Amino acid sequence: MTTRSVAAKAAPRRDAEAKPILVGLLGIGTVGSGTFKVLQRNLEEIRRRAGRAIRIATVADLDQARARSVVGDAAQVVSDARQVLADPAIDIVVELIGGTTTAKALVLEAIASGKHVVTANKALLAVHGNEIFAAAHAGGVMVGFEAAVAGGIPIIKALREGLTANHIEWVAGIVNGTTNFILSEMRDKGLDFGSVLKEAQRLGYAEADPTFDIEGIDAAHKATIMCAIAFGVPMQFDKAYVEGITKLSATDIRYAEQLGYRIKLIAMARRSEPGIELRVHPTLIPARRLIANVEGAMNAVVVQGDAVGTTLYYGKGAGAEPTASAVVADLVDITRLHTADPDHRVPHLAFQPDALAATPILPMDEVVTAYYLRLRVADQTGVLSRITTILAEHDISIDAVLQRESAHGEGQTDLIILTHDTREGRMNQAIATMQALPTVLAPIVRIRKEELN
Ligand code: HSE
Repeated sequence: MTTRSVAAKAAPRRDAEAKPILVGLLGIGTVGSGTFKVLQRNLEEIRRRAGRAIRIATVADLDQARARSVVGDAAQVVSDARQVLADPAIDIVVELIGGTTTAKALVLEAIASGKHVVTANKALLAVHGNEIFAAAHAGGVMVGFEAAVAGGIPIIKALREGLTANHIEWVAGIVNGTTNFILSEMRDKGLDFGSVLKEAQRLGYAEADPTFDIEGIDAAHKATIMCAIAFGVPMQFDKAYVEGITKLSATDIRYAEQLGYRIKLIAMARRSEPGIELRVHPTLIPARRLIANVEGAMNAVVVQGDAVGTTLYYGKGAGAEPTASAVVADLVDITRLHTADPDHRVPHLAFQPDALAATPILPMDEVVTAYYLRLRVADQTGVLSRITTILAEHDISIDAVLQRESAHGEGQTDLIILTHDTREGRMNQAIATMQALPTVLAPIVRIRKEELN
């Protein structure tokens, strides 16, 4: 044992009596206010857990009046975040600004100043995480990011520590509350996407600019982070396949229901022989799975490990106090570990930085999954036979077929086909061939299907 680690072991007891850990908060909007309130309300219990008090000493926010209304006289309020970074008394910087430009600069500066960082910023980590973690590792500081994925659900802790014995096979999550709320409403009320989105905006569930949510980008940021820590690979957001829910119709939700499935926006990271699948898209999942019954704005993540089997994590993925719950958990972790030898802390991406794998993220063409297809076809003899022949010619096996009267009038019918697993590239070719048939009257709808068993 080195002298350094002996000293590190002795330090926490002294610190517990010496001084509280001082936190600088950058941004005090919804999550910042929640963090302040939770820390104040549970001060004593948090101190008993952390071994010393954790106190927000300074808050930086351009809206100083708003900041003051939250913290009163309990903390210093400044408008310039760099004042927090320059303060040698601040131990941990909590970045709650969002975005990837200013937030990135401030996080890197905080690390360079020797401060630990806690962030809820999934976009920042998914896009710039490799650079940020490398800087943190070099500087011997910690970056906590429990709040970046699924809000209050401790999924980072579970993946990085609780499941550390496992070879993780796949992770599948509903990690965007806005889209799950919209999908639940579409199913319950039989409404189309556009009208439910308007209602969600009116109720304050969806942002005025909901692009990141409805296009699947927010979920892909979170999938990228879970993928990295589940499999020990770098963050690779640029290789994620991302498809949102904007093109989903109530018709497909209804047909899926009739076949025993729910459609959810699933964020999936899966290991297979040739590489890793990292993808976000609407997905049919069996209605009997617990995760299929996660409704409204709630989040859930299923993790499949070789030793533990299937585990499920459920809870609120957003909101002031649920997200604060994760931020404060990181503050406690850092408080407990900040005097530990950096080499003996939990690695940022669960695996030691020099042990990350170069396993490729598979292009979507090589992903293997099952499919739901809906074809609007002419109601004529031989049409179904021609379509099933094309699928057979592409070696695609059919699981179920449903024929329903089309809403588009007489002489047309909807064919709904569920397939077994096949390669996406092969399915693309089959769809192109079917689409060229004169008896196929509208663009073919394709939704991926996962059994999650
Ligand atoms: N916009 C996200 C959601 C919450 O709808 O789930 C923050 O990650």
